[in-house]
This record gives sequence, structure tokens and C-alpha cells, in this order.
Amino acid sequence: MTKIIQISDPHIVPKGQLAYGRVDTAAPLKSCVETINRMLPNIGPVDMAIVAGDLTDFGTAEEYQLFRDIMEPLGIPYCAIPGNHDNVAAMRTGFADQKWMPNSGPINWTEEFEDLALVGLDSNVEGEAHGHLTDATLDYLQQKLAALQQKPVIVAIHHPPILTGIEKMDIQNLRDSRKLQTILSEYHGELKLVCGHIHRNIIASFGSVICQIAPGTSHAVSMDLRVGAPNCLTKEPGAFLLHEIRGGILTHCIPIGQFDGPHLFYPDKS
Ligand SMILES: [Fe+2]
Ligand SMILES: [Fe+2]
Repeated sequence: MTKIIQISDPHIVPKGQLAYGRVDTAAPLKSCVETINRMLPNIGPVDMAIVAGDLTDFGTAEEYQLFRDIMEPLGIPYCAIPGNHDNVAAMRTGFADQKWMPNSGPINWTEEFEDLALVGLDSNVEGEAHGHLTDATLDYLQQKLAALQQKPVIVAIHHPPILTGIEKMDIQNLRDSRKLQTILSEYHGELKLVCGHIHRNIIASFGSVICQIAPGTSHAVSMDLRVGAPNCLTKEPGAFLLHEIRGGILTHCIPIGQFDGPHLFYPDKS
């Protein structure tokens, strides 16, 4: 029973700085690592974690080093895909020692487990907020899916190809996604698409597959579905996802932090 944790959008900034002048992003990622490590005996074993993009806010070498320093105590290995806030070249250099990091081209990789495969795809468009998958990336996905035959698959892309109703994010989603939809929908096994970018837990259909967007670790894009709503963040509690094979692919959303409990519902009955 493969289990994968998904962390998304940590937006690490240089030490001592706040993202957008108001969000401490390092402390919530540290808290996320602590939460996962504390929970592992109850929810594990977990095979690996994926960080679904926007590891850093500005894509600098200093930020990638700080990200790695904060993630270092995590009790499971992790892979990462770039988001729009990342810089593919700097990220490649920052993780050059990791076997999942390709030497050149888009940061696409595949990890195979006994009953699940995880495919990470690079949707970064340099200097742009929206996402796009190049023909090379779509070919990579197509070839990987063909080789996996009917094995359950999670495909991870930072930018969601769906519309969420949050207007300022929908204009920077994954563009030109028709071919992706065809490739995913034609897969013969179970397949789930997981994303980041919106910093909210959102679930939708994309063709014949389920698309789930992960919450962020430190701040959410504000919940405002009005036309013309301003582009805002809200410091909602951070969370991460746990994907596991339990019959099919099942996903839990777990808040970051330490909370009162667990308490027995009926202590007298033990
Ligand atoms: Fe983000
Ligand atoms: Fe993003």
C-alpha cells in the first residue's frame, strides 16, 4: 500500500524576510516537517513526499538552500516539481545531487512503487505566472503512461488545468491543456491528477480523471468567487495531503500543527 505525502507552495524567501511583506513562510514549512514526522508512526509507513511547486518565492540559490535546510529533518525522501515562482535552472543546480533531478530540459521525473507510480511534470514558463506543458513534456508523459500499462498513477503538475472560480488565479492556470486531458483520460488504469498553485484544497473533474489541488503550507489564496475580486492572500491554517492506495487512490487532507487530542470518545468503554 504505497503512501505519498504532498506538500505544496512553501514559497521560501531569503532568511529574515517575509513573503509579500507579511507572511513568514519558513516557520510553517518547519511546522509541516514536524507535523509529518510526529504523525508518521500513526499514518505510515509513507514511501515519499512530493513538493508540488513554488518551493521558493523568487527562485534564488539562497532560497533553495534554505528550503533544503528546513526539509532536511523530514523522515521520508522527497522529490519536487517547479512552480511559477521557481527558477528551473536554479532549482536544477540546487538539487543536482538528487537522482530524480534531470541533467537538462524540463524537470520531469517518475518514481515507481509496488502498486503506484508518481509522475512529476514541469509546467514552469520562465517569467510568467501561468503554466504550460511543452511538447517534450507531453511526450514524456505519454511514454511513461504507456510503459506503466494499468498501474495506478498520480500525475503531479503545479498549475491546475481546471477553473476554480477564483478569477485572479484562473487567468494563470495551466493553458493549452486539451492534449493533456486526452492523454490522461485515455489511460487504462486509475489515474489522479494533483496540483498546487491555488493554495486551497479543491477537487474537480478533469476529463475522466479527478484533479485535486493541495492547500499551501503558509497562506491561502483568499476564498473570493466574485467577478473582479482582488488578488489577495489569507493566513488560513496550512495543510498537506496524504495520497494512498486503499482499494483505489484515496486522499486525506491533514492540517499542519499540533492540536488538542487525540481523546477517546468514550473513555469508560476503553
Ligand atoms: Fe504558490
Ligand atoms: Fe504557483
